[in-house]
Amino acid sequence: MTKPRVFITRIIAQEALDKIAQVTEMEVWPGELPPPYEVLLEKARDAEGLVTMLNDKIDATLMNAAPKLKVVSNYAVGYDNISVVEATKRHIVVSNTPEVLTKTTADNAFALLMAAARRVVEADNYTRKGRWKTWGPKILLGQDIHNATLGIIGLGRIGSEVAKRGRGFNMKVLYYDIIRRSEEEERQRGVEYVPSQAKLLPSADFITVHVPLLPTTRHLIGAAEFALMKRTAVFINNSRGPVVDQKALYEALKSGQIFAAAIDVTEVEPIPPDDPLLTLDNIIITPHIASASFTTRKNMAFEVAENLLAGLHGQTPPNCVNPEAL
Ligand code: DGY
Repeated sequence: MTKPRVFITRIIAQEALDKIAQVTEMEVWPGELPPPYEVLLEKARDAEGLVTMLNDKIDATLMNAAPKLKVVSNYAVGYDNISVVEATKRHIVVSNTPEVLTKTTADNAFALLMAAARRVVEADNYTRKGRWKTWGPKILLGQDIHNATLGIIGLGRIGSEVAKRGRGFNMKVLYYDIIRRSEEEERQRGVEYVPSQAKLLPSADFITVHVPLLPTTRHLIGAAEFALMKRTAVFINNSRGPVVDQKALYEALKSGQIFAAAIDVTEVEPIPPDDPLLTLDNIIITPHIASASFTTRKNMAFEVAENLLAGLHGQTPPNCVNPEAL
């Protein structure tokens, strides 16, 4: 019996590749950069399964060129790179890696929060550039994290884990979400619901966004939202870049409308080298590494393999985002 062909768009953990290779005719793209779209299109022609990254675009054109495609197993929790509606129409199951990266991504949000509040990157540059001449009472002052108010937009899996970390620092944790948790859950999590984003923004010292990228969340945070924040506010985003209007973020940081920001995602990735945000000292920008720990990346690879193999067997993958496709 011929084995199903699968194309994997980046080298992932070897153990997971070995598992996939046992039952498929597997090809792995060897580059660090994503395969160009035309290559992906070509590789998809005969493929029954694809393992994709968040920067591989899987759209209707690609699916039309891939008549045998049964499953797209995305190596990320976010799957805005895939046209899920188009996949469902074609009975292609799409899966993601939701659980395994939750805590690591929340750790990253908190690392960004702390680094921005206490100006860790700026202070390191200050040292390296030879500007450390003395100890001084007014040098590199930042914002306190303990006892501050943390405002979480989107209390899903990752947002809830960020809340826990905030509680560990004795923060008051407010949240806004389109779905309110039960009072019992709120009590257990030590979080307080605020009925609108507009009400949350002026009340929080730290604002962190944990929502998927959807038409309704594009530019969720823009000039009007920054204008509502405290001048001492620290803004964090490790969800998706287009959730924030980056020009408005630049203006807010430049004008002192907010104190600082730390983002792991940008509207265009990688951020163009001439982007004005890169000229500011009060922002930290990291290259979309929120889930990048050794353990998590290995677990993501296993999850991706499991989802892929289930899809190839005509089963609903454990982390299927469109079960109605089958
Ligand atoms: C994801 O998995 O969607 C994250 O953005 C990875 O950091």
